[in-house]
This record gives sequence, C-alpha cells and structure tokens, in this order.
Amino acid sequence: MKKKIIFATKNQNKMKEIREILADRDYEILSMEEAGISLDIVEDGTTFEENALIKAKAIRDLVKDAIVLADDSGLAIDYLNGAPGIYSSRFEGEDTPYSVKNQILLDKLSGVPEEKRTARFVCAMAAAFPDGTDQVVRGTIEGIIGYEPAGENGFGYDPIFYVPEFGCTTAQMPAEQKNSISHRGKALRMIREYL
Ligand code: IMP
Repeated sequence: MKKKIIFATKNQNKMKEIREILADRDYEILSMEEAGISLDIVEDGTTFEENALIKAKAIRDLVKDAIVLADDSGLAIDYLNGAPGIYSSRFEGEDTPYSVKNQILLDKLSGVPEEKRTARFVCAMAAAFPDGTDQVVRGTIEGIIGYEPAGENGFGYDPIFYVPEFGCTTAQMPAEQKNSISHRGKALRMIREYL
C-alpha cells in the first residue's frame, strides 16, 4: 500500500510545490481538505519550529497510518530584531492588505542603509509520524529589504524582499525560480530525507 502523507495546509500553491518535490516518490499526498480534516489550531509556540510541530502533531492525533507534514513560515528582518517573524501573517492585522503591511515595514526602515537591511524568509517544516515520533527542519533564504515594492508574482512580503544574487525581488521571479531557491523549497527537500 502507498504511504500516505497529509500536508496541513489550505494553500493550493504549497500543495503543488510539495507534489513536485515528492514527485519521484510513490506517496499519496493529500491536503487537509482532501483528507476530510477541518481543525482550527492555535499556533501559540514561540518559534517557527514549535508552531510547525504544534500543527503537525494536532493533526496526527486525528489520523491513523499517515505522515503529517506542517509548515510555519515568515519574514525576519534583522534591523527589527527578527520582526515580523512568527507574527508575519498577523502583523498589523490578519486582514490588512500586504501593500499596506509592506509599506509599514518600508517606513520602519526609512533611512536605514543597505548593509543594515538584511532579512530572511524562514520556513520550519515538521513531520509527525504514526509511531509518535517527529522531525522538524528549517529552510531559509537570505535577502535585503528593498526601498520600494517591486514585482507582481508571489504573495505576502515578496515585493519588498530583494535577493542580491538574482538582482530582483522574489515577486519579480517566475514561480519555478522562486520555488527552487525558497525557504519552503529548501525545507521540503530537507524533510524529504526523513519520509
Ligand atoms: P505561512 O505560515 O506559510 O502561512 O506564512 C506566514 C506568513 O509569512 C505569510 O502570510 C506571509 O506573510 C509570510 N511569508 C511566508 N512565506 C512567504 C513567501 O514566500 N513570500 C512572502 N511572504 C511569505
């Protein structure tokens, strides 16, 4: 029988990405919805890793014979002591448009020189196994916060996240390029070793 993996996300882009990264393995990969699971999980951890593990374990408690994967990600800006960090989606309000959130961050960094604008996207990816064990890994991508938003691709903080090696923001990259270098892509390829 095929090994079953449930990925704790409602995000179809993440489902596509994990299916691509695990394409050469013979797994049945289901979203929460496809697995018939609906659960509101309180993410009250203090790190990306804790929150990813909280999600993965909460869902493992509901399923049998499936590996549960869950991620938690966000943007950490060094000049702001790692903010917005684990509060990335809640920063300035869950429903506030990212155009506004991004402008607030740009304003907070107003006048800050390039060398102090360093930041990274972080993704913790947790796997909870049917035997009660678990694993968690961290993928990151380093960049700097730009001076103005640029690009239409991606989502969230992508328009202000400039990657010097590529000379553009992650919102200016095609999806495949971003996936190949992103925090989430890296974390997925790392957790793959444990599956
Ligand atoms: P989640 O935990 O993956 O849902 O992500 C939390 C938040 O972090 C998102 O709502 C975004 O604000 C931010 N974030 C995570 N990954 C990215 C990314 O690749 N680009 C832009 N923003 C991101």
